[in-house]
Amino acid sequence: MDALVILVAAGRGERMGAGRPKAFLGLAGEPLLRKAAQAFQAAPSVGAIVAVVPGEEVQAARDLLASLPKLHAVVAGGPRRQDSVLEGLKHAPHGFAGVVLVHDAARPLVEVALIEAVASAAEETGAALPVLGLVDTVKRVRDGRVLETVDRSELGAAQTPQGFHFALLREAYEAAFRDRVVLTDEAMAVERRGVRVAAVPGSPRNRKITTPEDLAWAEGVLAGALRP
Ligand code: CTP
Ligand code: MG
Repeated sequence: MDALVILVAAGRGERMGAGRPKAFLGLAGEPLLRKAAQAFQAAPSVGAIVAVVPGEEVQAARDLLASLPKLHAVVAGGPRRQDSVLEGLKHAPHGFAGVVLVHDAARPLVEVALIEAVASAAEETGAALPVLGLVDTVKRVRDGRVLETVDRSELGAAQTPQGFHFALLREAYEAAFRDRVVLTDEAMAVERRGVRVAAVPGSPRNRKITTPEDLAWAEGVLAGALRP
């Protein structure tokens, strides 16, 4: 399989508050974007990488990723995550018809095994994503009052990479933009078309780096001082 990965890194990193988009912050001496890209470089099912970054970082990202043989393009993203994904889809290799994976550069510790699991489930079924089960008891709360306890066994947190047959995701994205739907992940675009999405087990290591605490956690994991 020669899957395409769209690495989205065009966010502003507001919650990190570091003054530079978080994909360019160092983690064990290497920017998050490069760490994430290396995981896909190492994944046998992946054939091409498209990185989507803030407009003013395109050149910096090209320099950062130039040594990765699978790098296909570095392009500027848009104001919302879904706009950045759309830019990535537009820059797929000409005539591409395989599996496309969309991954947050903010998840730099993604394991090759997880990438492979999503890619093969997506190839087989059309759409797949990693879901991490919840450990805490879950409550529905409104205005400071508990309404109910929700059955946790059927709930989970969506991670990336999310994988799809390319034509399916492109069509679902076109429809979502036409209908002005705000998407929080790619699977949502496909779900609303009535397409089933397969869930593969997510991974605690594949946590999204959002705050300085998350970055410190990732440093600890890489140093072997912390277990994910
Ligand atoms: N992303 C993107 N384009 C956007 C917004 C987000 O490519 N317009 C990417 C981010 O770079 C990140 C991933 O989507 O890799 C997940 O988004 P998030 O964790 O929210 O990152 P940021 O938007 O950068 O952070 P914040 O919301 O704190 O500003
Ligand atoms: Mg954001």
